[in-house]
Amino acid sequence: MKNIVLVGFMGTGKTSVGKMLSMCLDKPYISVDDIIEKKEGLSITDIFAGKGEEYFRKLESEIIREISGREDQIIDTGGGAVLNEGNIAALKRSGVLFCLTALPETIYNRVKEQAHRPLLKVDDPRKKVAELLSVRKQFYEMADHMVPTDDLDVAHISGRIIDVLNRLESEKEIPDVSGYFAGLYGLLINKIFHYASVPIMITSGEGDVCFANSEFIEIFGLGFADIRGKCWIDLVVPQNNRNEAREKFSSIMEYGKAIKFTILVSDKTGRTRFYNWIVDTLVSGGEKHLIFAGLNCHDTVGLDINVQPAAAQEMIDRIFSMSWDEDLETSKHSMKVMVYSLELADRIGLPEKEKEILRSAALLHDIGKIAMNEKILLKDGKLDDIEYEHIKNHIKYGVDMIRPVNILEEILPVIDSHHENYDGSGYPKGLKREEISLPARILSIADIFDALTSLRPYRRSFPIEEAIRIMRKEKGKKLDPELTDIFIELVKNGSMDAKIRNIDDKNGYKR
Ligand code: S3P
Repeated sequence: MKNIVLVGFMGTGKTSVGKMLSMCLDKPYISVDDIIEKKEGLSITDIFAGKGEEYFRKLESEIIREISGREDQIIDTGGGAVLNEGNIAALKRSGVLFCLTALPETIYNRVKEQAHRPLLKVDDPRKKVAELLSVRKQFYEMADHMVPTDDLDVAHISGRIIDVLNRLESEKEIPDVSGYFAGLYGLLINKIFHYASVPIMITSGEGDVCFANSEFIEIFGLGFADIRGKCWIDLVVPQNNRNEAREKFSSIMEYGKAIKFTILVSDKTGRTRFYNWIVDTLVSGGEKHLIFAGLNCHDTVGLDINVQPAAAQEMIDRIFSMSWDEDLETSKHSMKVMVYSLELADRIGLPEKEKEILRSAALLHDIGKIAMNEKILLKDGKLDDIEYEHIKNHIKYGVDMIRPVNILEEILPVIDSHHENYDGSGYPKGLKREEISLPARILSIADIFDALTSLRPYRRSFPIEEAIRIMRKEKGKKLDPELTDIFIELVKNGSMDAKIRNIDDKNGYKR
């Protein structure tokens, strides 16, 4: 596949977006400036100061020619790389060029505190940004796609680029229907739903299939081309049951909430059997879709639509169990956090409804980590500032991934604030005390306790007494003091030990 080349002025986010794309798309990230610095053993500033801009530009062209000879990489170029038309030609031969753009004022605000850009070390950098931009405009416009970045964060900018790439792919008629859902949500579908052990399909409001996972395709013996745009009823329901299935489908659309129903389907051998589907609505790109997760059920004979609140819970369990194969450690951690959270919730008499929300939030609180760079996630050592910033993004990725899943709406605020600190020093919003919801304060205690008592790639696990000591120190800082005291009591009386041991011994997820 062609390279994805990021061009654009300084401060438009090429590096952060490049790294994000690299992990989302699982392709190597190559920075022209990094290669130059490595080759010369000097920083860009020192090369400019000691050897001059002309020398730098010559090196830049050499490197660009060299890396353009390879494919399937994310290339991050310096802001001046496109001033040379030879560079543009070389990059275009093997890549698609995305130019990140931003207004002069946005750029100035982004770069004013950064000291590493020699061209902006002048008396009036604001003026210099505007001047350079106007001279370079015509070169930047030679890119294949322009991507405005003002007011957008890295995840959204990357999502837009992935959207364009998906569109380009689908124009090439690549038989993969998953491209229908773009950006981070598409990633969730690809990474989790695609290889799930239960059949998953997503349809439009009219019932036309826009996504089907490998299991679905296997069971019903269908190819991607057979599926795309066809109504699921015509594909999998036997002829004489179709009217009934259509009626059910309309009621599902009207009901608009997670439901469970059983229906007869015929598999690839032509055999008919009952399938139990959990269905929920998804809103993606402003359009309403339905997601179906299936389970073969030999014994079920009832055909009535069975509206159950438990269906939402079951869907969450299925989504979670799918993530088990992706990342066993995170899944185990999430289950332990769920046990700790629920025990604390029980102890303080949290209402049933909030407990359900807490349960699901605990299971899915780290789901954003599937979009993270594994090298950073599993790094054997302390994270540097940039890596830490990257890790912090798992909250935003998680929220972005599950936002379209209707039933998960209520758990979003809890996931979003499980790294907020009681004293306001947390992220992403810096909320404090009761501004952080009770379920989120509980989740954060459970999360920290499990993190401390589990082995991490960068440190040993702490013994319980040591973990308790650390948590006591965090009372009123990271942690809600009253809840922490109650939690410590629970830990001391050992009531959760058996459940936790059970999870530690497991190799797969079962409710
Ligand atoms: C430059 C941009 C810098 C770096 C060098 C020159 C430019 O890269 O290549 O300082 O001419 O705009 P970034 O755009 O990554 O800051």
